[in-house]
Amino acid sequence: MTQHVVIAGGTGEVGRQLLALLADRPDLAVRALVRKPGSLQAAPNLQEVPFDYEDATAYGPTLAQPCDLLLIALGTTIAKAGNAEAFLRVDRDYPMRLISALATTHPEAKVGLVSSVGADHPRGLYLGAKATVEAELEASGLTHVIGRPSFLRSSRKEIRVLEIAVDRLIAPLWLALGRVAFADSRGWWRWAPVHVREVATTLLDAALTLPPGQRRVLEGIDLHSGPINQWGKP
Ligand SMILES: NC(=O)c1ccc[n+]([C@@H]2O[C@H](COP(=O)([O-])OP(=O)(O)OC[C@H]3O[C@@H](n4cnc5c(N)ncnc54)[C@H](OP(=O)(O)O)[C@@H]3O)[C@@H](O)[C@H]2O)c1
Repeated sequence: MTQHVVIAGGTGEVGRQLLALLADRPDLAVRALVRKPGSLQAAPNLQEVPFDYEDATAYGPTLAQPCDLLLIALGTTIAKAGNAEAFLRVDRDYPMRLISALATTHPEAKVGLVSSVGADHPRGLYLGAKATVEAELEASGLTHVIGRPSFLRSSRKEIRVLEIAVDRLIAPLWLALGRVAFADSRGWWRWAPVHVREVATTLLDAALTLPPGQRRVLEGIDLHSGPINQWGKP
């Protein structure tokens, strides 16, 4: 039987990896909520759904359509959003609205959420937003998987200096040291930079296989799909 997947944030770094994996699954029908139509690479099982995240009335009807799994990979930065309020709308309010609408329309559905390492001990605006969304998901009663990656490695076109520095300078050393000296240290791997493809692979796999009623958090080594012997690379 076809399962219906809805994805928010499919144009992002993690989101595009999720869509690439979903494209190989003819048993899944995928609807991607997009701000601009034509943003995504076409796939036979993919339908783009133009969506206005600012329109609070749009969530209910959109999620009233068939949905067995909602994947949320939305996010921005304060610099890109313009200010803290605009940042919070994307990282906190839109995901919360999606979760709330889904809990009403399909309480039996599952959610896969891309959050962040540190969301369980939030400090500051960014982690506070992540923690609030996680709490909403927990309270919703929906079956869910939360991915809490550390720094993401990707081929992002936009220049984010910190990400580039981590990817080129810190990640190779961190992953090499982890493999050699901290293979069994969950603390070490919790903060290890991780490639977006690994995040997408582990999150999607966990979300599709999670039994109803359960919740799972993936962080650190859980997100390194080819564990440490692949040096954290996909
Ligand atoms: N970067 C890191 O190192 C890191 C580390 C840990 C956790 N995370 C978290 O991981 C998640 C995914 O990160 P990512 O790097 O894949 O994100 P990304 O590449 O920045 O993609 C963000 C997604 O959110 C959408 N979005 C941004 N602003 C929006 C707005 N105003 N209205 C509607 N949609 C909007 C984008 O759509 P458009 O294409 O239309 O803009 C895109 O689909 C985020 O929640 C992020 O906080 C990131």
